[in-house]
Amino acid sequence: MSDPQPVYLSDYQPPAYRVTHTELTFDLDPAATRVKARLLIERNDQADGKAPLVLEGEHLTLISLAIDGTPLTESEYRLDDHGLEIHAVPASFSLESEVEIAPSANTALEGLYQSSGMYCTQCEAEGFRRITFYPDRPDVMATFTVTVIGDAQREPVLLANGNPVERGELENGRHFVKWDDPHPKPCYLFALVAGNLHKVEDTFTTMSGRNVTLQIWVEKENLDKTEHAMASLKRSMTWDEQTYGREYDLDLFMIVAVNDFNMGAMENKGLNIFNSAAVLTHPDTATDAAFQNVEGIVAHEYFHNWSGNRVTCRDWFQLSLKEGFTVFRDQCFSADTNSAPVKRIEDVSFFRTAQFAEDAGPTAHPVRPDHYIEITNFYTLTIYEKGAEVVRMLCNLVGWDAFRRGADTYFERFDGQAVTIEDFVNCMAEASGEDLGQFMRWYSQAGTPEIDAYGEYDYAHSEYHLTLRQRTPATPGQTQKQPLHIPVRMGLVGTKSGQDLTLTLAGEKLGKDAVVHLRDDEQTFVFTDVAEAPVPSLLRDFSAPVKMHFPYSREDLAFLLTHDSDGFNRWDAGQRLAMLALDDLIAAHRNGVEKVMDTRVTDAFKTLLTGAGASADKAVLAEMLTLPSEAYIAEQQPIVDVDAIHAAREFVRQSLAFALRDEFMAVFEANRSDEPYAPTPEQIAKRSLKNVALGYLMAIEDDQAIAFCQEQVAAKHNMTDVRHALTLLVHSDRDDLSGPALKAFGEKWAHDPLVMDQWFTIQVTRPQPDVLERVEFLMQHPAFSLRNPNKVRALVGAFAQNRVNFHRLDGKGYALLADVVIELNRLNPEIAARLVTPLTRWQRFDEARQALMRHQLERIKQEPLSSNVYEVVAKALA
Ligand code: ARG
Ligand code: ZN
Repeated sequence: MSDPQPVYLSDYQPPAYRVTHTELTFDLDPAATRVKARLLIERNDQADGKAPLVLEGEHLTLISLAIDGTPLTESEYRLDDHGLEIHAVPASFSLESEVEIAPSANTALEGLYQSSGMYCTQCEAEGFRRITFYPDRPDVMATFTVTVIGDAQREPVLLANGNPVERGELENGRHFVKWDDPHPKPCYLFALVAGNLHKVEDTFTTMSGRNVTLQIWVEKENLDKTEHAMASLKRSMTWDEQTYGREYDLDLFMIVAVNDFNMGAMENKGLNIFNSAAVLTHPDTATDAAFQNVEGIVAHEYFHNWSGNRVTCRDWFQLSLKEGFTVFRDQCFSADTNSAPVKRIEDVSFFRTAQFAEDAGPTAHPVRPDHYIEITNFYTLTIYEKGAEVVRMLCNLVGWDAFRRGADTYFERFDGQAVTIEDFVNCMAEASGEDLGQFMRWYSQAGTPEIDAYGEYDYAHSEYHLTLRQRTPATPGQTQKQPLHIPVRMGLVGTKSGQDLTLTLAGEKLGKDAVVHLRDDEQTFVFTDVAEAPVPSLLRDFSAPVKMHFPYSREDLAFLLTHDSDGFNRWDAGQRLAMLALDDLIAAHRNGVEKVMDTRVTDAFKTLLTGAGASADKAVLAEMLTLPSEAYIAEQQPIVDVDAIHAAREFVRQSLAFALRDEFMAVFEANRSDEPYAPTPEQIAKRSLKNVALGYLMAIEDDQAIAFCQEQVAAKHNMTDVRHALTLLVHSDRDDLSGPALKAFGEKWAHDPLVMDQWFTIQVTRPQPDVLERVEFLMQHPAFSLRNPNKVRALVGAFAQNRVNFHRLDGKGYALLADVVIELNRLNPEIAARLVTPLTRWQRFDEARQALMRHQLERIKQEPLSSNVYEVVAKALA
């Protein structure tokens, strides 16, 4: 078998034929569903009259094929594993086909499959070709009419996109519903759901007075877990009207929760399908983080109705056109709805850990890739999150008013079309008059740019000279990098006054907070009339997705931590200060030298806990009291030493807890509350602050803290508190306490798959050395299944994030992951390819681990691989 070949952006050709209308009839059966399609097709004007008709199709059994009612003979077409080519067709015709598919055998969860007995679909990116023969590409947009036939008992509910227009009874206990979607759409937005579902219904009146019915469809036992998603949906609809002037465009909007789903959710027109983990919440079963995640994903999918559905992507290289923009939209929504600084801190700290690692690894790719083997491998942090950062920079560069005008133009000009990233950026350039030529490099150049900054205060002339030098490290296939247009938001904080100084650049007063534009490899900015020596506050609010290096002293950082007017940089100063201390401790651990705590960190924490900090936004304070994660610390090291990192971080946590025991206890006590649970920003802030404090106290296994944890795992508490306390117990050395608590929790929640996922994760993320055996044991647990992506992520995926245990020096952690990847490669290639990621980062580790990790990659490569896993493994070993 030959290796899978890549597709190139430069090979893009417009389609020779368009589909003006698609009519589908599904006769549902688990092993033998029949799909009839009638496509109205027209040749495009520019196309060659002899162009063949190319239809994708995979895992389909062809039953019949006809043009304008006349069956085709076998010599008139060519059929292979990837599709169908009809050699000669008229300029305008209807194509009728019938195929058979087996939803119950579909473990890849792409196309039509079964989940907990119900039928559902996932077509993005290329799943529709597993449903019928079709030009499965986003630049072919058609209106759809869909008839779904099912068993009236087993599938009382039959859903598809758009509006229901007809329903009726049929023979043999079967019934049907016919759906009509008037908005032309690419087939990746097609959806069908059938099963024994129950709904919660609400209404929304749009800004023009249209009444929309809102429905959330779930299994019966989950009817009490939909309230938050419904409230989030209504808030999203209002926000998009107020912020972007965008209104919903059908009479019905449906969300369906399914248990087996590869990703978070999918924006199918009028029928969003969600991973149950991304929609269901209840105070007893979901944490604050889960509530916020649901709100963000509901918003994200809803916002796609405009940024994605009404205006879609020309080809899959443009994926970030809809995803980057929509993530930016959902981030802004969540910031407006909750604590804006905390939302930014959370997003950036995740981004700098996970996206930076991706951008530095063997699968690094630009926000707009120029080739791929398997597009599902490109639903990445780079396309989504870096894409969002690029849109955020655009918005900041042109200003909100011009950005909003540009967005209006984009939605109006390209409504009903499939377009490119240039089309989007051009609207912004037009609306603002800015030259965004150099800026476009952000879309084509992979890798994280690094800025080396250096500043000098000239007392004699009252000037501050800031030199910024940029470089982007080479990434696979891109050795030469060009300078980017990088907006650096900054301030100069006076060391005497503690205030932001006015920035004057080339005679122009810019205010106390301004953006300097770095365009060249190196630039020096000379600020004049700087009355006192300042500490620069650079990259405020993370104004560009780059690494900023500045030789801050610990005193500078302690100063910024308390004086910077930018909340994000105050937090970041604390992170940098902690990093410097951690670096010393990592070195001490490696050299076998006694570890000594940096008292400047202790002092800073004390100030936060007692002084000015105590009155600050509690949610921000909780973030400031949180040390950089082991993964983020690892990201900063030239060679990752997992054990030294773990030891150093634990040492800091324990030192802080010993030194500030009473302060942490006071914060814990002051933020406990008996209020009934609500996912409000105020309550969430208090819970997170209280739980951060409890975490420190448990680092020294304080007796009173243990008692609080035991009390907090008791039934009357919400899941945020229960889960946190249980995690602290299980991650402590007190197995005498955690064993019974874990057992009780597992028994209590055995019936709830989303809670059992948490139960798995808590156990396999503990630092104690018994974890590998636990993972093996839990993989045999009745609540575990390799066929369910949430379970795989909760158990095996979470284990691979357990730094000390996954990276054990006997290589057993790597072998376990490889075994699961090999098995999943056959069942669900998309999930298998994602799961292998930690092994692809082998270059970051010491030689012994490198060899062990490579060995497992080689072992995987020996297998007959899906193109998904092949692409990732081949890149990792290149
Ligand atoms: N468009 C969806 C979203 O971002 C994700 C779909 C991913 N599909 C896939 N096969 N990976 O909301
Ligand atoms: Zn999306």
